[in-house]
Order: sequence, then C-alpha cells, then structure tokens
Amino acid sequence: MKLPTGWYVILDSKEVQKKPLGITRFGVPMVAWRKASGELVVMSDLCPHRRAKLSLGKIVSDRIQCPFHGFQFDAEGTCRLVPEIKRDAPGIRCQTFTVREEKGWIWLFWGDSAQAPAELPWFKDRKELLHYSSYEETWPVHFTRSVENQLDYAHLPFVHKSSIGRFAKLDGEMKSECNEKFIRWSLREHGDAGIEFVFPNIWINLISSKYFLTLAFVPVSETETKLYLRSHRSYLTWPPFSWGMDLLDRWLNRWILSQDRSVVLSQEPSNSLMAEEQLVGSDRFIRHFRDWMKKA
Ligand code: FES
Ligand SMILES: [Fe+2]
Repeated sequence: MKLPTGWYVILDSKEVQKKPLGITRFGVPMVAWRKASGELVVMSDLCPHRRAKLSLGKIVSDRIQCPFHGFQFDAEGTCRLVPEIKRDAPGIRCQTFTVREEKGWIWLFWGDSAQAPAELPWFKDRKELLHYSSYEETWPVHFTRSVENQLDYAHLPFVHKSSIGRFAKLDGEMKSECNEKFIRWSLREHGDAGIEFVFPNIWINLISSKYFLTLAFVPVSETETKLYLRSHRSYLTWPPFSWGMDLLDRWLNRWILSQDRSVVLSQEPSNSLMAEEQLVGSDRFIRHFRDWMKKA
C-alpha cells in the first residue's frame, strides 16, 4: 500500500503468543512470532523457497519452520537449515520488518528502517496509560475513510444523534492546531479535553483527566482497515467492578462505531484520495490529513 513512512500500530501485543500468527498489513502477508525470550519477530509470511505460508509452520529453537519442506529461518530472516542437505543456506533470506512493542501495542516502521525515529508517535504530554478495555472490528474500507471519519466533527449531530452527538454543540469557538505530527482540536472552553490524531494512525479522545479513548486505524489492505479501540479510565479498575465497566465500555463503543460504519461504508470511492469531493470549512482537518497522505 502507498502510505507515508512512519511507526504504525499493527497489532495488540496480546495477539502474538507462542504460535506463529499470519496477518496482512499494508497489503503484505506477514507472520508474527516470538522467540523463547518473548522477543517479537515480524517477517514476510511467504517462504522464499516456494512461497508457502510460514504461518502454517511452527517455531523450533527460536526459528520458524516452513510447513512445506521444513526450511528454518531465524529472527533475522536467514535460512539456518535446509533439511535435505542438513545445513544452512544464508543466501536464502526472508524479508523481516522493524518492529517495537510498547503500551501494549506492536508497532511496525513502514519505510526504510534506517530512517526510523527512536521515538514512537505516542501522546507524550498525556497521562500514563490507565486501565483499559479493548474492542476491535474490521471495516471493508480504505485506511483514508476510517481516519477521516474521526477527523470529521460535523457528522456528530447527524450520525450520532441518538448517542454522543445528541448534545454536541458545534457552534462554539474551536481551538485547533495542525502540523506534521498531529491534528488537535477542542470544542470545549475549559480543561484539557479534546481530540487528537497523531500521525500516522492513532486517534485520541480525551474526555476527562480520568477517562479517554484511543483508536488505532490499522491498514490491512487497500480495501480493509482494522480498528483497535480502547477505553482508558482511572476509576473502577478493580475486579469485579472493572469487568462490568469494561463490558459497558465495549458495548458503547460497538454501538457508536456501528453508527459510523454504515455511513462510511457507503462512501465511494473507498480511497478518499481518488475522490472528487466538495470540501467545506468543517473539513479542514480532512484536508490536512490528505495533504499528509499525498506525501507517500
Ligand atoms: S516452500 Fe518453504 S521450505 Fe519449501
Ligand atoms: Fe462518528
């Protein structure tokens, strides 16, 4: 996929356990697995020998073994064993990706890894991560449409008239700031509540100092985007109260996303960069996002 370079959230850390996990990200088949130490590896899921899926194989002594002819690849992607000749073949290599694990996410640097900044695009000026509940779903839309939906505040009183848009007041003064790292805005006059999109793929809705949402838009392919939504809070964090609250949060998030989903799925074309649209003032964050996308 054609996307700007950067550190993208691609998975929740919990998703990668002992077995190899086959995924598609950026339109590329990838396999995620762990060494015995827990260290994470993400590499191409297609075996360089005859292109079978490595994710159908297994982990053997910190190597991934292809299910087809048993070639073994280490964490750097080098072939360490060809069973037929009983030795390695360093010339046979599988592409690996630069990844990090932080805040319960797995991040992949999309682009030349030599250019990868040391810092991840996290909201440093926010509180440390609180207790959170997670909810995820996959939408059959291009990355652009899912992100733009969360940059579009004018849809609140219409799409969400029965939920969060019911009391939305969009006629007050709005504070906003846009640059190459984030888009940030607030409709409230006091406090630090507000919404922030951190390039390339995280959105944060700071509702209060005790409660906020994060949403990662994970590009699967040209036609699919996976949404990882978390509700973070600093109260009712002890079981069994937390289970009830987590359940309620998940239910709310699913309901609100379902309101967005039907409208966003109706937009054509799915890749907004190919669209002919007549944008207005309230679309200024979308315009900024598209300018950033065009750098890809
Ligand atoms: S296809 Fe993987 S070892 Fe042959
Ligand atoms: Fe919405």
